[in-house]
Amino acid sequence: MAGAGDRSIAALGVSLAANLRVGSSHVSASATALAGQRILLCVGGGIAAYKSLELVRRLRDAGAAVQVAMTAGAQQFVTPLSFQALSGHPTRTTLWDGAAEQAMGHLELARWAERVVVAPATADLLARLAHGLADDLVATLCLATEAPLAVVPAMNHRMWRHPATEANVAALRARGVQVIGPDDGPLAEGESGPGRLSEPEAIVAALAGTAGPAVVASGLLQGLKVVVSAGPTYEDLDPVRYLGNRSSGKMGFAVADAAARQGAQVVLVSGPVQLETPRGVRRMDVRSAAQMRQAVADALPADIYVGAAAVADYTARAFSPSKIKKTGTGQSLVLDLVRTPDILAEVAQRADAGLKLVVGFAAETDNVADYARQKLTAKRLDLIVANRVGVPGSGFESDDNAMTAYWPGGERDFPPAPKVRLADGLVELIAERLRA
Ligand code: PMT
Repeated sequence: MAGAGDRSIAALGVSLAANLRVGSSHVSASATALAGQRILLCVGGGIAAYKSLELVRRLRDAGAAVQVAMTAGAQQFVTPLSFQALSGHPTRTTLWDGAAEQAMGHLELARWAERVVVAPATADLLARLAHGLADDLVATLCLATEAPLAVVPAMNHRMWRHPATEANVAALRARGVQVIGPDDGPLAEGESGPGRLSEPEAIVAALAGTAGPAVVASGLLQGLKVVVSAGPTYEDLDPVRYLGNRSSGKMGFAVADAAARQGAQVVLVSGPVQLETPRGVRRMDVRSAAQMRQAVADALPADIYVGAAAVADYTARAFSPSKIKKTGTGQSLVLDLVRTPDILAEVAQRADAGLKLVVGFAAETDNVADYARQKLTAKRLDLIVANRVGVPGSGFESDDNAMTAYWPGGERDFPPAPKVRLADGLVELIAERLRA
């Protein structure tokens, strides 16, 4: 695939640069940002709990006051006494502790916290938090606090990629919960993939980036520029008629919104739709395929292009300046149409656009997987998202969708869900593919 190698090398450069930035500046910056903060660390039941001991030290080094609460599972891996020694405060382990409740009740502890950090956040704990359960001390504290919540996931890579976990993480993100990591690499059980708890110093740096009253966005696409196309295009035939399609723009707008919430600088090139511009997104309105092509070219260079628009495949060879006269009843009208340029394929071939990842959508009524894979190859894409159209509850106009993403050597299912949720999952996949 011409150009793909360049894109991956460039992506690697960005990720290395990002790591270096974290590594070089975190000590002093974190110390300033976290100094004096009251942080409640909730430790979940995974082997990575041992790293949370180091996290307590790092947080205290950065000047934070730390109290620790543990789930029952966490206590299978690390003892409350270790956290007590490192934090300088008694470790809380149960809701039903009379002595502890007398000293500082759990609601008081939830109020005490200026920041709540869940590390490691296991798949089970993420699910309980996403659903607002209060079935143990940690879940209750997270539900009772008004402090900003950060979760640091750690689990087996298959559990992390499970649609249930993805939906839970997307729900938490949508509520403004900061998700730090997970890292990609060797896992405790001998496998490899995304699921490692982020290193304590990286967690502290991520927390410091959002500390204090001036909340700075920090996310999976931080520092990257994303161009998203959305909606239909209208191809004018004469002053009153046009060729169009049923795209509402909802899917593309949701992707633009999700990317912006993940810290990207987003330009949204939109066909004619009735939607509000997502917060923090720069919008360029267009009508025709030709205008969309020009607007996309103007918006580049960028790091990522996502073509969610339903660009008309044909346009009138010549616009008729006067209204085309009707033919007689039962008679046919022949329109002279020509193919529009394929914006996505053009973008994917541009070596000068700085792109690290080019993502297309495929709207299909049948043979969805085959046609999508063909487009992936023919248009030289890094990722294609196939959705079935022409059925209720999916594709055009609906608030919901169901999709499968394909890339060379892999695929991921996104079961039926609201487009806003799916967009969060897609942006996570985009971030993963960038790192791959
Ligand atoms: O807008 P909604 O109502 O929310 O519906 C969402 C959606 C169904 C429109 C969206 O999820 C979707 O599938 N968008 C792509 C629709 C489409 O045009 O698919 P396609 O298979 O015809 O095109 C494949 C890809 O090439 C798409 O990324 C498209 O943007 C791009 N393309 C197509 C033709 C063209 N001339 N230029 C292009 O860039």
